Amino acid sequence: MQKVNIAIDGPASSGKSTVAKILANDYGYIYTDTGSMYRTITYLAIQKKIAFSDEAGLVDLINTYPITFEQTASGQKVFAGEEEVTQAIRQPDVTNGVSEVSAWAKVRHKLVEMQQKIAENGGVVMDGRDIGTAVLPTAEVKIFLVASVDERAERRYKENLSKGIRTDFETLKKEIEQRDYLDSTRVVSPLKQAQDAIKVDTTGLSITEVVQCIKQIVSEKIKNLA
Ligand code: DC
Repeated sequence: MQKVNIAIDGPASSGKSTVAKILANDYGYIYTDTGSMYRTITYLAIQKKIAFSDEAGLVDLINTYPITFEQTASGQKVFAGEEEVTQAIRQPDVTNGVSEVSAWAKVRHKLVEMQQKIAENGGVVMDGRDIGTAVLPTAEVKIFLVASVDERAERRYKENLSKGIRTDFETLKKEIEQRDYLDSTRVVSPLKQAQDAIKVDTTGLSITEVVQCIKQIVSEKIKNLA
């Protein structure tokens, strides 16, 4: 099968990463979680006491601690320089700060460059907020995943529990709404459905159903490319 790039965008906890990982595995593609890159800079800023408002300081962090991924049998590991940050970047203090950090143009510019390099030879499933609109505007397949806020909060609640992170459901819901608001109203590359993206509403659907639906879209697209 021809190797294409698959861009998956959507709001927080819409199921992007779960679905993207399965698709990448099934197609033998590289999976890139761009949210983890913004999270890594946010984590580093907290550790190194760089203010979220210090754009130049945040860019310095990107230059000093290169972000890399390592594929392992138990999933993808994320590194900032030599340090493994896979778990640390999922903590609530990072989650609640990441929208502020990711709003900076220079931070985005640097990370987008890295993301484009990863995808330059095709065969990538990349998820984020601006993949179809800014990172890979020529991606052959663009999906925009949505789900109700209640369902997304429920998913994040269960995901957190499975990682041993205790969170209050209502607080989680408010945080998701706040992050959606910040991500979709920022000036630089806001969360927005690309004109040529296909919207998939995952509310009430199982992961298997969502994967099936996207695979159908991918097959159609590839057929039309031939
Ligand atoms: O997908 P996630 O929840 O791990 O993403 C964390 C944050 O990173 C999200 O709130 C907004 C930001 N982000 C972004 O601005 N652009 C992307 N391509 C991916 C994530």
